[in-house]
Amino acid sequence: MTSQKIETSPLYDEADEIARQLLSDPPDDPYPLYHRLREIAPVHQMSTTGDWVVSSYELLADALREPRFVRDFDDLMRRQHGGEVDYARPILKHRACQFSHANPPEYMKKRSVLSKSITPVAVSKLEEEITGYVNELLDAAEAQGGEVDLIEHFSHALPLKLICRVLGFPSPEGNPAWLGSFSAYGSTFLPSITEQMLDDADKAILDLNEMMAEQLETMRTSSSDTMITQVLRAQEQGAPLSDDDLMANTIFMLAAAVHTSAALIGNAILALLHHRDQWELLVADPVGRAKGAVEEALRYDNAVLANPPSRLAVEDVEIGGFTIRAGEVMIPLYGPANRDPKRYPNPDAFDITREDVRPLSFGGGPHVCPGQHLVRTQTQIALRILATRFPNMRLVDEDAPRLIMPLQREVGALRVRLT
Ligand code: HEM
Repeated sequence: MTSQKIETSPLYDEADEIARQLLSDPPDDPYPLYHRLREIAPVHQMSTTGDWVVSSYELLADALREPRFVRDFDDLMRRQHGGEVDYARPILKHRACQFSHANPPEYMKKRSVLSKSITPVAVSKLEEEITGYVNELLDAAEAQGGEVDLIEHFSHALPLKLICRVLGFPSPEGNPAWLGSFSAYGSTFLPSITEQMLDDADKAILDLNEMMAEQLETMRTSSSDTMITQVLRAQEQGAPLSDDDLMANTIFMLAAAVHTSAALIGNAILALLHHRDQWELLVADPVGRAKGAVEEALRYDNAVLANPPSRLAVEDVEIGGFTIRAGEVMIPLYGPANRDPKRYPNPDAFDITREDVRPLSFGGGPHVCPGQHLVRTQTQIALRILATRFPNMRLVDEDAPRLIMPLQREVGALRVRLT
């Protein structure tokens, strides 16, 4: 096994090229490369940046819980910007308030206030509303008759509608202006940022802040149960979150929620329809099988492939026989870890009856995705209702086009016949 920057060998070079390709220019089907990288270099230091990528399930599960990896906003920004950072820019002032840059114990205090409306109990109270959203969107899709693109008409609209409800944002329908601002803001999460992206994001964030300031005023006297009203109430009791924190973090939540959830719904439907026997199993018992179908979809074709360089070693950390030195960064590769044959027998098979599925798709340790309960419930309800209402649903185009993105795996269009 090879894989440290100081080495030069054919295997090191091959692993280095695979890691570079996966993080910048992944192929349509990255799974053969995932397997190869995990086989030849489950822990690999990239020659370009010196960052480490970890792709074995067991090693990654341990690394995610490792307390000597911390969040460091300044370090992350310098890496993303490739040098000096102008913290006076509106987008960076805004991103500095993101709770995910904090470390325990301060981190836990902020996270517990912000996640009150997405705990398992809070999410279970939303089940009826989610069922209503799913049926409403599917009624509209069905009314089109013939073929319908489920990405356009379902998989994006559902999480957007739901997260706006959870946060207490204005309804997405009829607010195209602020939706446009989100994509400019969202681009600042990519591993490297250009000046043009920052200019666009500066403008977007000023617009979003204005929209949010108005929304906060309306919500101050509201008795509704949303993330914004929960935080406003917690503020009155001295919670460590200012209005700036509230704005930055609810906007961040929306950005974290929509594309990821939409990608999972699209990937799950595609996997089920590509594996007709698995779809038939779901159709035969939608209530009993929806949970297994979602866990398997998270494992088999995860929406989030990797995390940008946001885990910095504050001390030397040993992983799989390599030493990640203090000041170096670890990038989790969830995609290969979820198909590790040491953890999952026959990992390339899509099997919704598989037992003991614990995908690393939501990360791990203190920063594990706080939206996971919402995602699981939303996707289970979506698949359950699709299988119940449209048991004969079929793909029109077997080769549904993939969007090629370095950190995310998503279907671009999913044309189906519902009946
Ligand atoms: C399929 C959908 C989703 C996937 C695959 C996903 C995946 C992830 C992953 C891998 C992380 C990094 C965790 C870590 O560093 O250990 C993360 C963080 C996060 N996710 Fe999600 N996520 C999804 C949906 C959501 C939703 C619906 C929300 C909001 C309701 C959300 C909010 C967040 C936030 C706020 C963080 C940052 C947590 C932190 O760094 O402290 N995510 N997510």
